[in-house]
Amino acid sequence: MTYLLKNMQEDSVPTNESDKSNVESNKSWRANDRKLDAARRKYEYNYTYIPSIAMVEKLAVQEYPSRVWIDLVAETFTTILINSLLNSQNKIFHIFRNDVLQNILLVIIQLIARWVIYPLMIIVAFLENNAFISRILEFIFLRWIIKLNFAEAIIKFLFSVRKRPEPDAPEKVTSLQQYNDLFQKIKLPNIANDFQKDDVFAYMRVAGYNPVMIERVTPEDNKLESKFPVTNAQYQQVMGDNDSLADALADGRLYLADYQGLEGAANGTFPKEQKYLYAPLALFAVPKGKGLNPSRLMRPVAIQCSQNPEDAPIVTPQSEKYAWLFAKTIVQIADANFHEALSHLGRTHLFVGRFTIATHRELPDNHPLSLLLRPHFQGTLAINDAAQESLIAPGGGVDKLLAATIDNSRTLVEADLQNYSFNEAMLPKQLEKRRVDDTEKLPVYPYRDDALDIWKAIHTWVHDYLHLYYDNDQAVESDTYLQNWAKDVVAYDGARVFGFGQQNGQIQTLDYLIDAATLIIFTASAQHAAVNFPQKDIMSYMPAVPLAGYQPASVLKKDKVEEKDYLKLLPPIKQAEGQLDLLYLLGSVYYTQLGYYGDNYFQNPAVQPILENFQKNLQDIETKITLRNRISYTYTYLLPSRIPQSINI
Ligand SMILES: [Fe+2]
Repeated sequence: MTYLLKNMQEDSVPTNESDKSNVESNKSWRANDRKLDAARRKYEYNYTYIPSIAMVEKLAVQEYPSRVWIDLVAETFTTILINSLLNSQNKIFHIFRNDVLQNILLVIIQLIARWVIYPLMIIVAFLENNAFISRILEFIFLRWIIKLNFAEAIIKFLFSVRKRPEPDAPEKVTSLQQYNDLFQKIKLPNIANDFQKDDVFAYMRVAGYNPVMIERVTPEDNKLESKFPVTNAQYQQVMGDNDSLADALADGRLYLADYQGLEGAANGTFPKEQKYLYAPLALFAVPKGKGLNPSRLMRPVAIQCSQNPEDAPIVTPQSEKYAWLFAKTIVQIADANFHEALSHLGRTHLFVGRFTIATHRELPDNHPLSLLLRPHFQGTLAINDAAQESLIAPGGGVDKLLAATIDNSRTLVEADLQNYSFNEAMLPKQLEKRRVDDTEKLPVYPYRDDALDIWKAIHTWVHDYLHLYYDNDQAVESDTYLQNWAKDVVAYDGARVFGFGQQNGQIQTLDYLIDAATLIIFTASAQHAAVNFPQKDIMSYMPAVPLAGYQPASVLKKDKVEEKDYLKLLPPIKQAEGQLDLLYLLGSVYYTQLGYYGDNYFQNPAVQPILENFQKNLQDIETKITLRNRISYTYTYLLPSRIPQSINI
C-alpha cells in the first residue's frame, strides 16, 4: 500500500524511508484501516429511502445536531409558533401579543431543547455500545428528537387547540390581504409590496431563490422557432421599435427560462384539492446598450404556459392585466417546484450527502482531504435523514405543499440527480453551458458574479491546502485511500455519483482533485446558501411564489382572465400558512460561517497562513458585494458572512 503524503497531521504517516518509520507507518495504516472498517458499518448506504439515491441507512450518533443548532431551531420554532397563535381565531392566544409572554415561551422551549433533548442525545451516545438499551432509547427518543418531533408534539398540541375544524371545501380567498394577515409576529417580507412588478419578476431569475434557470438563446439553438413562436411585433411591443427580435437574437440578448423538465408531471391532490404543475417557457431580453449599467436588467417579453404552443396562448406584458399576472404566477409555480425538488433538495442536500457517506467510509480522520471536507458535511446527514423521514415522505410537507404527487416529486429528484454530471456541475462550466458567462451580453446577474468570486476564493484555498500534501500528480495517483474514495464515490454499491472522476472514475491529477474538492465545498456552502435562505425572505410569502397552482393553464384561453381566476389559481389559506411555517423555518437557521473552522482545527502550522488568506479573500468579497448592493441591485444571499460552512437546514 502506498500512502506517502508530505506534512501529514498528527498520528499521520511519516514519509521517512527508515525501517523504524516504516514500522510506525504500518501501525498507523493498520489503525486507520480498523477505524475505516468500523466507519463502514456505521455509514451503510441505503438506496430505497428515495429510490436509487444513495443515502445513509441509519444516522450515526456523531451526526446528531449540536446544542447550538438545536437552540437556533428552537428559537425560530418559537417565532413560528407565536405567529401561528396570533393567527388563531381562539382569542385566548392573542395574549402572546405581549412581548414578556413571548419571551417566556421562548425560554420554555429553549429549556426543553437544552435540558431534555440535548442530555438525551448524550445518553444515547454514551450507551451506544449497549445495543439493547441503545435500541430502546433510539426507538423511544430518536424518532422524536432527531426529527424534532418532540418539540413538534408540544407545538402540535397547541396548534390543535387553536385550530378551527378542517373545512370540507377549501377556503376561498377573496383578496391578497388574507395572505398578508398571516404575518403577525413574523414581519411581512418586502416582496409582498412589489412581487407583481415586471422588473421584480425578471430580477428573480438573476438574484432570486432559483437563479440557475435562464439560458441564452442562440441562432443555432433557437427554441423559439421550435416551440415558442414569439413574433417580432410582440417583442417590439415590450422592447420598443428601435429593437427587434432578430437583433436581440444576433446580439445574444435573448434569455429563456424553460421548464421542460416538469412536462408530464402527475398533478397531486394531497391533502384534498386538485393541484397543477406546469412546464412553461418565459422569454426575457436585455435592453440595447453597453456596460454594467443597472438599467440593463433583462425584461420579461413573453410567457407560454405549455411546451406545446397549441395548448397555451403566448401572453405578454401588453396582454390584459390578470392574464399576464396569471401567466407570471404559473412561471413562479414551475420555478418553485424546480427549486425545491432539484436546485435545493437534489443538487445540494442529496448531492453533498453522498460525499459525506463516502468520506466517512473511505478516508481516515487524519487524511488531508478528509480534514478539509468534514466541516463542510456537518449536519447534512441529519437534516437529509429528517427530510426523508418526514418532509419528503408521503403525507409530509412536500406532499402537502408542492404541485405534483409525492411519487412524482421523488421521481423528478432521482431522474435529475442521475443525469446531473459532477464534472459538468463545476460553476464555470454551468455558466458556460447556459451561455450566461458573458458579462457584456448579460450585465445584471448578481448570483453569477458573487458565486464566481466565492468559487475562486474556495478554489485558491483548496489549491494552496492540497499543495501542502501533494507535490504532483504522481502523489495523487498513488494515494490508495484517495483512489478508494473515488471508487466508492462512483460505485453502484457506493455513492453512485454520476460523471465523477477522470478515466474510469479515478483521480489522476492534482488539478482535478482541486476542482472536485472545490465543487463539493462550494455546493455545501455557497450554492446551498443561495437556494436555501431566500426560502424565508421570498418564498414564505405565498402569492409571490406559490408552491402549487390550483387552476389549469387552460384558463388563459378564456376571452378575459379576471381577478377571481387569479385568486383561484393561488393556494388556499391553509396551504399558504403551511408554506409560511415551513419555509420561514428552513430559511432562518444560520449555523457556522464559511471559512471559519474553529481554533486549532488544522494542527498543521503550515495551514494557518493559507487559511488566513482564504478568510481575507472572503472579507474582500464581502466588502465588494456590500458596495455593489449600495449602488446597484441588492443581492445578499452570497455575502460570505451569511454562508454557513455546511448544509444543516
Ligand atoms: Fe436546505
